[in-house]
Amino acid sequence: MLYSDKVMEHFTNPHNVGELPDADGIGEVGNAKCGDIMKMYLKIDGGKITDIKFKTFGCGAAIATSSIATDMIKGQTIEDALKLTNKAVVEALDGLPPAKIHCSVLAEQAVKAALADYYRRQGIDPTPIVGDI
Ligand code: FES
Ligand code: FES
Repeated sequence: MLYSDKVMEHFTNPHNVGELPDADGIGEVGNAKCGDIMKMYLKIDGGKITDIKFKTFGCGAAIATSSIATDMIKGQTIEDALKLTNKAVVEALDGLPPAKIHCSVLAEQAVKAALADYYRRQGIDPTPIVGDI
């Protein structure tokens, strides 16, 4: 079996799919390798991610990684969300085939891009906090 049960579970029934019309931060990233696109919406209150939704135009692994990434950072502080790595996403999914690792990078980058957008909306330069996105 190429994909773990966890991947299949999140692909078949992804969590937190959709948009947040009143989002405090929106991140959109594209994967140069495959052309897939992921969009992440964050609602932030008191330094915490109170709600999160995503839309992914991409492969099954990209849908599974975005689904689990949204689960992992929902309710977390911004600081903890910034620590989310693609490696942690892959581990939470019980692994991904090597050719699909880049899909998990997309999930990490989408979260970071949404947080960068959040900072920009407050007039704060996100680069020192979020890094180059
Ligand atoms: Fe994205 Fe195949 S490269 S679906
Ligand atoms: Fe493109 Fe997975 S193949 S994100």
